[in-house]
Amino acid sequence: MSHVGCEDHEKLYTQLNEYIDQVKEEPGVLINVLHKAQELFGYLSEELQQHVADKLGVPLSQVHGVVTFYNFFTTKPKGKHQVKICLGTACYVRGADRILERFKEELGVDLDEPTSDGLFSLHGVRCLGACSMAPVVLVGERDFYGKVTPDEVSAIIKKYRGEK
Ligand code: FES
Repeated sequence: MSHVGCEDHEKLYTQLNEYIDQVKEEPGVLINVLHKAQELFGYLSEELQQHVADKLGVPLSQVHGVVTFYNFFTTKPKGKHQVKICLGTACYVRGADRILERFKEELGVDLDEPTSDGLFSLHGVRCLGACSMAPVVLVGERDFYGKVTPDEVSAIIKKYRGEK
C-alpha cells in the first residue's frame, strides 16, 4: 500500500467519498469513515485526515483525537513485508532487544517505520504464543523464525530482498 500511484490515489479518494456520502448521517460516522480510509489507503496520512475532516465538516483536531486514541489506526505506511519482533517476556529475556537492534541497523529504520524502498517495516509485538522458540520473529502473517540470533538477521532480510 505504500506505493500508490496518482491515478490509483484518485480512485481511492473517489471510493472514499462515495462511502462518506452513504454514511454521512449515521451515528459514529467519523470512526467508520476512518476505518474505511485505512482499509483503502493502508494508513491515515495527514492529508487523508484533513480530507476526512473537510468532508465531514469536523475540526481536524477531532480527527487527530480519534486516530491517536485507538491503536488500530496507523498514521504511517507499512512495508510490503512486516517484520514483527516479539517483545514478550520470554523473548525479551532471550535477547529480543538485540534482535530488534540488529534489524534496525540492517534496515536503517526505527520501529513502525517503513524502509525507503517500502519493502520492510519493523514492529514490536506481544507474545506470539511460541515462547519455547524464543526469541521469535514473524515476517508477514506466516513466516515464523524461532531461536533467532542477531547474526541470522541479515539472512532473514535477504530472503525477502530476493538475494541469495
Ligand atoms: S514471549 Fe515471545 S513468543 Fe511468547
